[in-house]
Amino acid sequence: MAGVRIRGLAKRFEGKVVLEGLDLEVGDGELLTLLGPSGCGKTTTLRCVAGLERPDGGEIHIGDRLVASPAAGVHEPPNRRGIGMVFQSYALWPHMTVFSNVAYPLRIRRRDRATIRRQVLEVLAAVGMEAYAERSVTALSGGQQQRVALARALVAQPQVLLFDEPLSNLDAKLRIAMRRQIRAVHDQAGAASVYVTHDQEEAITLSDRVVVLDRGVVQQVGTPRDIYRRPANRFVADFLGFENLLTATVVGGGGDRVGLRLAGAGGGVMASSTHPRLAGETVVLAVRAGDIACEPVPTAGSPGDPAGGLLGTLVSTEDAGDRVERTVEVGGQRLLARSPETEGDPDVLRPGDAVLVRVAPTRAVALDDTGARPAETRPHHHRPAASTREGT
Ligand SMILES: Nc1ncnc2c1ncn2[C@@H]1O[C@H](COP(=O)(O)OP(=O)(O)OP(=O)(O)O)[C@@H](O)[C@H]1O
Ligand SMILES: [Mg+2]
Repeated sequence: MAGVRIRGLAKRFEGKVVLEGLDLEVGDGELLTLLGPSGCGKTTTLRCVAGLERPDGGEIHIGDRLVASPAAGVHEPPNRRGIGMVFQSYALWPHMTVFSNVAYPLRIRRRDRATIRRQVLEVLAAVGMEAYAERSVTALSGGQQQRVALARALVAQPQVLLFDEPLSNLDAKLRIAMRRQIRAVHDQAGAASVYVTHDQEEAITLSDRVVVLDRGVVQQVGTPRDIYRRPANRFVADFLGFENLLTATVVGGGGDRVGLRLAGAGGGVMASSTHPRLAGETVVLAVRAGDIACEPVPTAGSPGDPAGGLLGTLVSTEDAGDRVERTVEVGGQRLLARSPETEGDPDVLRPGDAVLVRVAPTRAVALDDTGARPAETRPHHHRPAASTREGT
């Protein structure tokens, strides 16, 4: 069966390195998402898999077929790779009807008219576009064009599906509906899919596994939950929306739990760590605003227990409707705390008040201050092969 294996993929444009030694594996039936900022090499990776770019190094297998290897002189053309692709721009033929656009991959495969008609109408029905078959694609909304592009990618029943930010031009509601449709189509086709996005929510809700890329380098591979709760480094935490990335010092603990202090702030917090740390080590304390609570400081001095919380000063409070956001200064660093609205409860905290900041101990993570550096200067241990990071 299918599946995609990428080993040591390298690609340069005009001497500029875009990918350097990229390793990825997509299992048969798996939906793997490439998540990363603009320009990190997501489209380039997909185009190499599709055969639309020639890599400068490495190998790509689809199933057990070697489809690209500059060293071995192998470059299978795109139409022989058994791939369906939805492009970042839909790339529909503007002079053709919906039917003809979707029929195109079957026509070039020289299927007979009756088969083409049956398969096209079937796939248009699957994306809810059967009523539009005879329409010109230029007379469709963005969301409808998107669905036609999806139908065209699916019609020849490819073993591998490649999606390049297919929902980026849709409004929020349609995006959620189409996301479910893509997942359903993937599950039904039993294909191996690579899905590209820079939207963390899309990656989290849609994928079996997520690969976080920065500047062509894999930063983390894991399940959506791993990536969301246990980012591997500062870059991943930042990209996955951790509002608080604070500089902290390890004061104790071993194994996967550490006690941390912040310079100039009373108290401390417990955090999980991907690896054991030494006392005195500087780390990044990453925590989501929703996992921090603020309360008035109890009268009897500062908490001595590192798990007790941090002592800070309230800077400001913002009422955001269903939640309250507070900015607190802790030893010269600022953090954001978010709590659900407490209706009818008078807010006892005022700017300038001393506050006790409590961090949910299972939600705080101590991270290395890495990621987002040029590939040349990156230490080797921050470039793990995709497969070795699974389940960490
Ligand atoms: N044909 C090309 N010629 C020269 N440079 C290119 C070419 N295609 C891509 N690049 C460069 O390669 C880098 C990676 O581009 P790529 O399109 O893969 O990024 P991306 O991750 O898909 O970004 P986005 O989220 O904006 O679509 C960018 O710096 C881009 O400018
Ligand atoms: Mg792109």
